[in-house]
Amino acid sequence: MVRLPANQAEPAQYDIVVIGGGPGGYATALYGAAAGLSIALVEKDKVGGTCLHRGCVPAKEFLETASVFRTVEGAKVFGVQASQPVVEFSTSQDRKNQIVDQLFKGLSGLLKQRKVTVVAGTGRLLGGKVVEVTAPDGSLSTLSGSNIVLASGSVPRSLPGFEVDGRYVQSSDELLDRRELPKSAAVIGAGAIGCEFASMLSDLGVRVTLLEALPKILPGCDEDVANVIVRSFTKRGITVRTGVTVTGHEPDGDHTSVVFGDGEKLEVEMILMSVGRRPLSEGLVAEGTGVEIDERGHVRVDEWMRTAADNIFAIGDLVATPQLAHVGFAEGILVIKQVLGEHAVPVDYGNVPWAIYCHPEVAFVGMTEQAAVDAGLDIVTKRAPFGGNSRARILGETDGLVKVICEKRPDGSAGRLLGVHMAGPWVTEQLGQAYLSVNWDATPEEISQFLQPHPSLSETFGETVLALTGRGLHLA
Ligand code: NAI
Repeated sequence: MVRLPANQAEPAQYDIVVIGGGPGGYATALYGAAAGLSIALVEKDKVGGTCLHRGCVPAKEFLETASVFRTVEGAKVFGVQASQPVVEFSTSQDRKNQIVDQLFKGLSGLLKQRKVTVVAGTGRLLGGKVVEVTAPDGSLSTLSGSNIVLASGSVPRSLPGFEVDGRYVQSSDELLDRRELPKSAAVIGAGAIGCEFASMLSDLGVRVTLLEALPKILPGCDEDVANVIVRSFTKRGITVRTGVTVTGHEPDGDHTSVVFGDGEKLEVEMILMSVGRRPLSEGLVAEGTGVEIDERGHVRVDEWMRTAADNIFAIGDLVATPQLAHVGFAEGILVIKQVLGEHAVPVDYGNVPWAIYCHPEVAFVGMTEQAAVDAGLDIVTKRAPFGGNSRARILGETDGLVKVICEKRPDGSAGRLLGVHMAGPWVTEQLGQAYLSVNWDATPEEISQFLQPHPSLSETFGETVLALTGRGLHLA
């Protein structure tokens, strides 16, 4: 990282100044630098952001530890004798740190190679497309960009009565740094983070209770898929409570009691707050820049990621679009294409790929059945359980299904694919062809022309689509 001289006479000039080095910011920098633009990337911590250091990557390492544990624990049915596995979480923590560090070094090297100027400090947009940087030692410097990209990301949200104290109440940030696991945990909020951590903790022997305010878990997921997860969680001993209101917690020694519903209490060692993330926009822009921030803290943008001020863009978790690293990547690329004056297409947020890495995994793209019904569309749906898939049987992972939703043609047959929803083994790696099919407005006839290798998990998607032509092989 470079430190700019304090009291410089003129701000250093760049084609683009990016504030925030997470997936949105670093993708903007890498893609722009690859096209020959001069770029400064301001980062107060480490490039890689939440995704690499406190989110996607570390969480998946722990989920992989859970998967290895399950495999060893279930080895006997394959005729492989192994003693009962024991989790040494600190080893997994060290391995996670090693992986994150390797990826961080790789990313830093890539930015250097592309001649992106990474500036250490906290960026704040002043007027006239000038960014003020407060270095870690408090000194100030300025950068000027023909274009500015705001990409400062998000932080975990909490609830009144559940302030994160690092001991009883933790967010994903603290949990991902633990070296030991608690014996019991209440997970508040059953979205992607809540379900991934509930799954991981339970697999590694923690007694888990999932408390969700809404009537169902995984908001935004198709109901059939969410039901697969509820069944699997329940079977594995996770208590899933939906429609509950949590009001506070009462610490007592090593434990604390979560108070919810009509005064019910649940004693646990740890509470994980996973009730969403809020945009990190405080102090990001000075008065008079023209950039607008809404009542929830998101920077207001149009479909091109343009703020209300000329040549100032905002992307990633800072704006009100799906909080996904790959959406941040796409938004960064969209900005660069516009800066270069190239043909660009806005991100189609209704059709982005979603992947949730709990066990069983969840992956989906496009409309849920309920969303299609709410939109007044006539639809045809088809479901296929993984229980009928030979590879899933071989793996011993038969929980789950593939569900395909198509537009209904006037003759009643299934037309264009509107959505594909999966729960089951490795579905996060199987989503690719469903993602392409939905985004290409493909029909079952078109997709079913393509072969699926046998035996493979992806045959279940192929079978579902073939059945939607009116004639399936194994599926009616
Ligand atoms: P989320 O918004 O997905 O889920 C939060 C959950 O908490 C919701 O189910 C909500 O109804 C519930 N909730 C809110 N207030 C509550 C209350 N008072 N009591 C009980 N439940 C309450 O947020 P989450 O899971 O924290 O994730 C943050 C963001 O990060 C999301 O946009 C998510 O999609 C993204 N993310 C994506 C991942 C993935 O795609 N694999 C993994 C982790 C996060």
